Amino acid sequence: MKFSYSAAQSKATSADMTVYFLSRKRKKVIGFPDNDHGNLLQEVAAIGDFKAKEEEAIVLYDRPEAPGKPSRILGLGLGGKKGGRELFRGLGGVIAKAACRHRAARLEIVLPADGIDQAMAAECLCEGIMLGSYNFSKYRTKDDADDLPHRIERCRFVAPKAVRIKLAIERGNSSAECCLLARDLANEPGNMLSPSLFARRARSLAKENGLKVQILAGKDLERLAMGGLRGVGQGSSESPCLIIAQYTASSDAPTILLVGKGLTFDSGGISLKPGAGMEEMKYDMCGGAAVLGAMAVIGREKPTGLNVAALIPVAENLPGPSALKPGDVITIYGGKTVEVVNTDAEGRLILADALAYGIEKFRPEAIVDVATLTGAVIIALGHHYTGLFSNDRQLARKVEMAGEKAGEPLWRLPLHEEYKKQLKSEIADLRNVSKGRDGGAITAAAFLQEFVKGNAWAHLDIAGTAWNFTEKSYIPKGPSGMAARTLLELIRNWK
Ligand code: BES
Ligand code: MN
Ligand code: ZN
Repeated sequence: MKFSYSAAQSKATSADMTVYFLSRKRKKVIGFPDNDHGNLLQEVAAIGDFKAKEEEAIVLYDRPEAPGKPSRILGLGLGGKKGGRELFRGLGGVIAKAACRHRAARLEIVLPADGIDQAMAAECLCEGIMLGSYNFSKYRTKDDADDLPHRIERCRFVAPKAVRIKLAIERGNSSAECCLLARDLANEPGNMLSPSLFARRARSLAKENGLKVQILAGKDLERLAMGGLRGVGQGSSESPCLIIAQYTASSDAPTILLVGKGLTFDSGGISLKPGAGMEEMKYDMCGGAAVLGAMAVIGREKPTGLNVAALIPVAENLPGPSALKPGDVITIYGGKTVEVVNTDAEGRLILADALAYGIEKFRPEAIVDVATLTGAVIIALGHHYTGLFSNDRQLARKVEMAGEKAGEPLWRLPLHEEYKKQLKSEIADLRNVSKGRDGGAITAAAFLQEFVKGNAWAHLDIAGTAWNFTEKSYIPKGPSGMAARTLLELIRNWK
């Protein structure tokens, strides 16, 4: 999809669909462009068929001089409130759906003028159009015409005031790309994205985007005594690995450490999950996918004065003859011992290794981990907010603001000494699950906190939002790509 911009609308109808925005003030539809299309939209509004409500869409046809090929006009409602980023992302999604329905490949979008930041609008429309036209059809072979993916070839923004929106388009495009990458990885079934294939994908993505990459596996993990990652992976014939990707701005710049849970499949292990819905556990690598997606774009955007290191521990959690058993004791990197009471609480085990190792190796200024960690966070927050945990007010605020900007809301939940007490083991330093089920998302976070040694750290539990996130025009069913854009915003605005 190519984006461009121009100061004037093209005369001849070189577009398959021309898009206009109209707003609603005191029950009146306003903001008509001063041309034939604008007049037509106004007349349609006057007879009450278009009210310009938020995301309301109407398709009209114009009959140009040359008969036989009517041109499409898409009128879109901005609603009555002062719209921000999320409004335009949503409208981008509506444009993508309309373009798909009408098989329009070349779009011309006349940006709304009065009182609207056109650069912001262009950025978010671009993001929304790309995210809204996402589909994952690589494993379908039948070509049912209705099912066939539609491609928008180009979008030209028309900004009447000739604002330069080149940078805005680039930003919107990159944001969308990191999210799409995360969705693509998430959609891959477990057999097509096993730990070794995940590592291969990460290696090529890192290389394409100028990142340093290293994959630790087998003997490396043994030498580093990463008992969590090795333990979780030992029930599968696919061995676990730790993906390390690095963006370096300069050697004296501070480092942000990103960590993502990468379970390519989580059956629960010996503490086997019930069968119904187990196929969804191929999504248990969404945290890793978000981190990798963000890193790819960070490598391209090359922020200055900041280094970013990413760690993605990758494993497949299966029951097998050498799988971890309930009651087993393992040693996490750095020496803390854990009694594995439930092999289904595996995410925290692989994250513990990655956090402990990453802190020692990179001495980061801040750490952010992203994980589909607990079913309990879905009970707490549903599918509309990501659970945010942090031992640092400022960092928590930064992450919250990045999420808000990206349209990926987070809700902070507490951490407290009392939760840690629930993780006392009779035999090891810690047990991997609390004794009761109460506060499950928090006790999981409290477990991770044991491995961050007081460094500024934020933990994002995306179990409820990584897939079937709030229904929106630009959020499909299935994986949302959650947190990739939030991480990118966080790095872009770090300062
Ligand atoms: N990957 C799951 C968490 C999960 C559950 C994500 C549902 C998305 C939807 C995680 O590894 C897990 O199994 N957690 C257990 C922890 C329990 C054993 C303490 C859970 O939430 O049930
Ligand atoms: Mn599990
Ligand atoms: Zn899991």
